Amino acid sequence: MNTPIGIFDSGLGGLTVVKAFLEHLPGEQLVYFGDTARVPYGTKSKKTITRFSLENTRFLKTHGVKMVIVACHTASSLALESVRQAFEIPILGVVEPGAKKAVEVTQNGKIGVIGTRSTIASASYEKAIKALNPDTHVTSAACPLFVPLVEEGWTEGETVKQVIHHYLEPLKRSNIDTLILGCTHYPILRDRIQEAVSHKIQLVDPAEETAYKAREVLESLELIHRGKVSQNQVQYFVSDEPELFRPLGERFLGQPIESVECVSEDYFEAVL
Ligand code: DGL
Repeated sequence: MNTPIGIFDSGLGGLTVVKAFLEHLPGEQLVYFGDTARVPYGTKSKKTITRFSLENTRFLKTHGVKMVIVACHTASSLALESVRQAFEIPILGVVEPGAKKAVEVTQNGKIGVIGTRSTIASASYEKAIKALNPDTHVTSAACPLFVPLVEEGWTEGETVKQVIHHYLEPLKRSNIDTLILGCTHYPILRDRIQEAVSHKIQLVDPAEETAYKAREVLESLELIHRGKVSQNQVQYFVSDEPELFRPLGERFLGQPIESVECVSEDYFEAVL
């Protein structure tokens, strides 16, 4: 079925998820919504993130999407259940697929998780990992400076190395062999994070795992696109500053973004 898959995030970070979908779900149409007017989510409460997530999903539904991906780890951690309860279409978050992969790859049962303050405070990854294997030991760390660094284009150099080292040093001491990149922006720092924690530690990017999971769910529900595989078509929407989104977004996506539409404030006022 070639109706689109909806993907939302608090801003542009979710484009790392779009990238994984373009790679693993060829031919699917995507509708992306980045809530640039209300970013960041990583410092906000469950109540607020839930309201935003319900509105974002409602917006994507107006585009006839067959499934919604909550690409934002913070929203997946705090609002997924409410969104699932409110809509009848399949809703997928990034936490469960990431946790599952980490449990599969760990050898010593010691898993690290990094994310925004709200994601780490919610213990969402820890709960998902323990539900799969209660004997696993999870060590978490919030890394609040990673998002602004990436958004400012600071992905190399001494300052970046020091910031990464500062946040990851305690994790290294807990003898983890697997580390989940629990935030949309962290795959952009992947190489620097890998260097900081040593090459022996396996990094898990939930974006990739979510793309595999989406394919599995769409196949099982017979909603996967089976026609001729042409290029994916992606429509991009934001709630503010489309001009800023485009150049930064191209860096996240690693390919050009032709156009970005701004969702009018009326839309959000109407759904409040
Ligand atoms: N998208 C958010 C996440 O993955 C990071 C940016 C924000 O704080 O909104 O948690």
